[in-house]
Amino acid sequence: MTKTRVTRETQAFEALLESMRAKLHRLIPDVEIQAKAELAFEINRLKRERNAIILGHNYMEPALYCSVPDSVGDSLQLSRVSAQSEADIIVFCGVKFMAETAKILNPDRMVLLPNLEAGCSLAEGITADDVRALKERFPGAPVVSYVNTHAETKAVSDYCCTSGNAAAVVRFLLDRGHRHILFVPDEFLARNTAQELGLAFIEGWIPGSEQELRADTPAVIGWGAHCEVHELFEPEHVDAVKQQFPEAVTIAHPECKPEVIAKVDISGSTKKMVDVVKASDAKQFMLFTECSMGDNLAAENPDKEMIRMCSHQCPHMALITLEDTLEALRKLQYQVELPEAILRDARVPIDNMLAIS
Ligand code: 13P
Ligand code: SF4
Repeated sequence: MTKTRVTRETQAFEALLESMRAKLHRLIPDVEIQAKAELAFEINRLKRERNAIILGHNYMEPALYCSVPDSVGDSLQLSRVSAQSEADIIVFCGVKFMAETAKILNPDRMVLLPNLEAGCSLAEGITADDVRALKERFPGAPVVSYVNTHAETKAVSDYCCTSGNAAAVVRFLLDRGHRHILFVPDEFLARNTAQELGLAFIEGWIPGSEQELRADTPAVIGWGAHCEVHELFEPEHVDAVKQQFPEAVTIAHPECKPEVIAKVDISGSTKKMVDVVKASDAKQFMLFTECSMGDNLAAENPDKEMIRMCSHQCPHMALITLEDTLEALRKLQYQVELPEAILRDARVPIDNMLAIS
């Protein structure tokens, strides 16, 4: 290697290290920042060499979040970015359903998920056969699948939605004359969306619940799956936080129970959390969501304090590390592959969603 190149690389490494220090020095000891910067530097070098982009979900650990992604965001933002990508390779630092969505939108590109075990309790909570059975019991009701589903489930759905556009997708269907909408698999997101739009809620997973439908009453028909992280938050937690930190703005993800949503100041997707914290004059926030989100918001907003309950962590998101991301780029692993028919059919509800919002 020539001396000029060595100097240029050293300067680039120092610049990356400084930018990571600037964001992370209050959260992570410097020795760890240095170790993570070395990994991030090598990832960014390989990324350029392979013409790859890295998409990072808002729940990624802070050192990863602040160093290697070309875009960070919520599920909706990252689907949009992946739909516009021209890179040869998309590395998805998020969970499997997110990488699958990127693959469905980019069937001819290589999509890598750094750890194949990074699943989601919601995606596991419903199968394509469950959706087919619901369609038979509720004929004519369009199926809205939360993006947190397996590709096979999306392939038998009419629309996708994310937590950022769930109400907009349901409103769109109501405006087109649908009275009853199947909304799977997250019971709480479905209940919260029904509540927001003033609609009835039917427990679609209970046999015989179809008899409760009234032709003149618009309703959301839900399914009984839950996020294993957000279902842990209880309304009493909100009460306790408000008592201990009366100045804190409380924000919850709509995968939380409706009783929790009813008590917080603001509910919304992880993108909404980013926007609210950035725009607010308040100095203290309590986030009822995955713990890393609080770290990432603290890193980006040094003048604001994030209170969070870090016993509530997503075990799947935590599997995506800088080490695995480096291995993903080195070995081109793990490539997301889906059968042709699933790629074709699952694209329809995703395109339908992207066309609405
Ligand atoms: P967002 O789309 O709000 O980022 O949520 C994704 C998710 O998995 C929340 O648990
Ligand atoms: Fe799935 Fe919940 Fe983890 Fe989000 S936080 S990926 S919904 S298990």
